[in-house]
Amino acid sequence: MPTPRPTLFEYPVLGSTLDQAAELLKTHAPPFAVTAAAQTNGRGRHGRVWHSPEGNLYFTAALPVGLPMGKLPLFTLYAALRLAHNLNRTTHSRKLWVKWPNDIWCGHKKVAGFLAELITVKPMGRTLLFAIGLNLNTQKFPTEFALRATSLKKIFRHPFDISAVSRRVAAEVFASYELFCSGKYEKDLYLLWVRYNRLAGRVIKYDKNQKVCRGRVEGIASDGALCVRTSKGIETLRSGEVTLSKYL
Ligand code: BTN
Repeated sequence: MPTPRPTLFEYPVLGSTLDQAAELLKTHAPPFAVTAAAQTNGRGRHGRVWHSPEGNLYFTAALPVGLPMGKLPLFTLYAALRLAHNLNRTTHSRKLWVKWPNDIWCGHKKVAGFLAELITVKPMGRTLLFAIGLNLNTQKFPTEFALRATSLKKIFRHPFDISAVSRRVAAEVFASYELFCSGKYEKDLYLLWVRYNRLAGRVIKYDKNQKVCRGRVEGIASDGALCVRTSKGIETLRSGEVTLSKYL
C-alpha cells in the first residue's frame, strides 16, 4: 500500500507557520505541513525578520525526528539542493544555485531561505520543524532587502501559482527527508552539490570570534561543514553566513 500523503494545512494569514506547526502538534501527529499566504511575524535565521507579504511561499513541515542532531545541517543542505534542482527543472533553467549553508540564490540575490528547529511538544515528543521562505511573486522589496533579494517572478518574468508550488515543495521536502533518514542520499547529495554550489575555489569572507576572516573554499565535509583554506590552514565552518569576496 502506498504511504498516505501528509496533510497540508493552508491558511490565509498567520503570525508564523513555525508557530502554527508547533500549535498543531498538540493535536496532530507529524508528518504534516503548514503554509500561509502571508505572515505578520515571519522570522529568519540569526533572529532576523523574514519579510512576508502576500504572493510568496511560507512553508513549515513538521517531521518526526528520525536522524541524529549532528546530521541536521547536512539534511538542510540536502533539502536546499534538491529544491533548487526541482525549481530549475520546473523553470527549464540552471539559474538557481545553493549558497552554503542552505540558501537558494540567483546570481548575487537570495530567492529562498531555510530554517530548521527541533522542538518538543506534548504529546508528540521531539519534532523537527523544517521551514522555507520562497520568494515567488514579490516585485518590489523594501529598500533594506532590495540589493540582496529577488523572486522567481522577477527572474523568470511571469507569476507563479502559490498552491502548485506549495504542493511541489511539500512533496520534495517529505521525499528528501525519507531518503535522508534511510541513509540513501550520499551520492545524490554529492552530485547535486557539485552541480549547484558556486563557492568551490572561490574566496569568501566569514565572521569568526567577531573578526572578519577570509579564505578559499575547498569543499564540504561529510557532515556538511564548509572547508576553507586560510593562511593558517584549513578551517571548518559548521554554521554562520559566508559572503563571496567578489560577487558572481
Ligand atoms: C533564512 O533566514 O534564510 C530563513 C528564512 C525562513 C523563513 C520561513 S517563512 C516560513 C517559516 N515561518 C517563519 O516565520 N520563518 C520560516
